[in-house]
Amino acid sequence: MDFDIVVIGGGPGGYVAAIRAAQLGFKTACIDGFVRDGRYSLGGTCLNVGCIPSKALLQSSENFAELTHSFADHGITCDNPKINIEKMLKRKDDIISKNANGISFLFKKNKITEIHGWASFTAEESGKYLIQVDDKGTKQNIIAAKVIIATGSTPRELQQVKIDNKNILDNTGALDLSSVPKDLCIIGAGVIGLEMGSVWSRLGSNVTILEAATQFLSTADEQVAKELHKHLLKQGINIKTGVQIGDINNKSDSVTVHYNDGKDKQELHSDKLIVAVGRVPNIEGLNIEAIGLKLDERGFINVNDLNQTNLPNVWAIGDCVRGPMLAHKASEEGVIVAERIAGQQPHFDFNTIPWVIYTNPEIAWVGKTEKQLKDSGIAYKKGVANFMANGRALGLGNSVGFVKILSDETTDRILGVHMVGPFVSELITEAVVAMEFMASSEDLARIIHAHPSLSEVIHEAALACSDRQLHG
Ligand code: FAD
Ligand code: NAI
Repeated sequence: MDFDIVVIGGGPGGYVAAIRAAQLGFKTACIDGFVRDGRYSLGGTCLNVGCIPSKALLQSSENFAELTHSFADHGITCDNPKINIEKMLKRKDDIISKNANGISFLFKKNKITEIHGWASFTAEESGKYLIQVDDKGTKQNIIAAKVIIATGSTPRELQQVKIDNKNILDNTGALDLSSVPKDLCIIGAGVIGLEMGSVWSRLGSNVTILEAATQFLSTADEQVAKELHKHLLKQGINIKTGVQIGDINNKSDSVTVHYNDGKDKQELHSDKLIVAVGRVPNIEGLNIEAIGLKLDERGFINVNDLNQTNLPNVWAIGDCVRGPMLAHKASEEGVIVAERIAGQQPHFDFNTIPWVIYTNPEIAWVGKTEKQLKDSGIAYKKGVANFMANGRALGLGNSVGFVKILSDETTDRILGVHMVGPFVSELITEAVVAMEFMASSEDLARIIHAHPSLSEVIHEAALACSDRQLHG
């Protein structure tokens, strides 16, 4: 129980850090305390109650919506299609189990010691860190020469109401509803609100989302946010921005949310309420005082650009530190920290972290928005191309949206790419690669894209940056 590297947290940050550390020859342990259905389950928030289950339900509900609304255009009809929620949830749970077992397999393959239970620091002695692991009351002590903290995040709660995951749900409850609520209220039109709202709306719920900010999805490019907003409204999702939430009454079979819409007091009755107002770093139970680990002013573990904390030999990565709360950001930090411990000099570019929201249409972006460029006084060129003119998109029956490329007016270097439309979650990687290689819009315009493919819209947008679009 004496290790070169101990990773606390087995989410996409922690388990990836452990694998990379073991590959580099360190004697490595990973401690994780996530419990699903009464059993320990590796993979953290992302695998158990986040990225993976939400995408499984998004796919199931999308299939149902297509069968109900769009397949008729292909000449395919089905009388009175039904969804079996129990089966849909079981499919989602099977995907989680398969992946969690996969992580355990990778741990064995890489000779990583898998330790289950809740970890807390007890002391620092002669430069090493003592960690106690509480496995449902059974305690064991671990010694670590180096520690990587990857304890992730938990949902932020509203002071007005307690999450019970019966009527008032966080992401865990929102992924496990055993029937389709007739009326569903969601507080927060952020990433979780939009994705979970889409799932239950496609399955038949009347969804209303109450959002405090006056501008819808202000983190995304304004043109992309507007396009998504238009389509969500068309799908019947009611989004009210600029609201102030008041009292929330949780009765046995319904929830009433009192709010002010900027003009008047309103109340909204629903069968279930999802609270999705952001997430907070998970430091609980770590006992950071025992070793003097410092937090930043927002309560995240304080780290520098190299993910070093204020303590020698203690690093922190993923949702518990600054930066976007995304699984791929956490994993990449895990790789980079393990390599830095091994004396390598890897590079991490925050500017090329892609964002995807898996609504219909999907949205995806990387780099700067038009607003950010304007605010920083950077002159830019813009090329926009629509999916409407793309043969593959028309064949798919999904031709809404566009690709927008922003490049430096003088050097033509690509500064940001913003997409809304079919499979942009996949298409965005071309933009990430281009930006990582410091490509210009001219570089993309000169690359041959397969025909017919959705990627041709990126090609057209690149051509449009120099006013030579062929199909627009
Ligand atoms: P986590 O995944 O939170 O893992 C931390 C682990 O550490 C947990 O298992 C926790 O139990 C454990 N732990 C904490 N403290 C201790 C302790 N003291 N002792 C032992 N174990 C401990 N991101 C994307 O990029 N794409 C998506 O599509 C996406 N979808 C999401 C959907 C939902 C509904 C949610 C909630 C999140 C989603 N995210 C998505 C965000 C993503 O889940 C997080 O960014 C990611 O999980 C962060 O990884 P992490 O390793 O930092 O932390
Ligand atoms: P979020 O930060 O994306 O959105 C929270 C929303 O709630 C914001 O729009 C905010 O203005 C609003 N809000 C905050 N307080 C409010 C209040 N009192 N009343 C009304 N509205 C209020 O957070 P969310 O959706 O909880 O997701 C957490 C994180 O999980 C995201 O930041 C994202 O990093 C990650 N995630 C990523 C996904 C993806 O990559 N596809 C999917 C789901 C989550």
